[in-house]
Amino acid sequence: MEKELLPGLVLESVHNGEPIVVRNAPEGWKKLGAGNYAAVFAHSDAEDVVVKVYAPGREGWEDEVEVYRRLGDHPAYSRCYYAGEWEGRKYLVMKRLHGTTLYECVKQGIKIPKEVIDDIDAALDYARERGLHPHDVHGKNVMVADGRGIVVDVSDFLKTEPCLMWDDLKKAYNRFYMPFLSKAPVPMPDWVMNSVRKGYRLFRSAHS
Ligand SMILES: Nc1ncnc2c1ncn2[C@@H]1O[C@H](COP(=O)(O)OP(=O)(O)O)[C@@H](O)[C@H]1O
Ligand SMILES: [Mg+2]
Repeated sequence: MEKELLPGLVLESVHNGEPIVVRNAPEGWKKLGAGNYAAVFAHSDAEDVVVKVYAPGREGWEDEVEVYRRLGDHPAYSRCYYAGEWEGRKYLVMKRLHGTTLYECVKQGIKIPKEVIDDIDAALDYARERGLHPHDVHGKNVMVADGRGIVVDVSDFLKTEPCLMWDDLKKAYNRFYMPFLSKAPVPMPDWVMNSVRKGYRLFRSAHS
């Protein structure tokens, strides 16, 4: 990995608050997703692991290692197998979660059953029992895998300030998704997904 993936990889954080942009990924490596801190890759020869590479200058690597240490082994979370640094580039080797983010489910019109929401609630309670503070739990950080809810991104779980994202997502699920979309979900165009995301940000900055 340090020979193949990291040297050939160009990550950029173009806009603060927008996901990391991956300029190129070497042969054999597939980008699974990108967030505000990092991009996540899988290799075709290793089905069950992913590499999360932090963008230059983005904090959070040490915190994420500590969060996984406290979480231990739990079915609703990934695990961190190895944390390394190569020429100043920080990365984690983690258990791959085979799921679809709730964001992608809404976008693609894939049904999100109520049990998924309950599983995630239970997983977040478990994290609280371990002395963690669920934070930044939004549609791109939770997934459906075989009909169960799982949490992909725990990097902010040491932050103690309150975060309303998961409660807001649940409200949206109960008020809009259940009554209007759950029976026959339809794919959503990008502009709808982006408008909801930007609208939510405006709403939260006005109501906090
Ligand atoms: N363990 C994993 N298995 C599979 N996909 C993952 C895994 N971790 C992250 N991803 C994918 O990569 C995206 C970005 O990872 P994430 O941990 O959320 O990064 P960030 O901390 O920058 O927000 C996620 O939204 C998800 O699509
Ligand atoms: Mg994320």
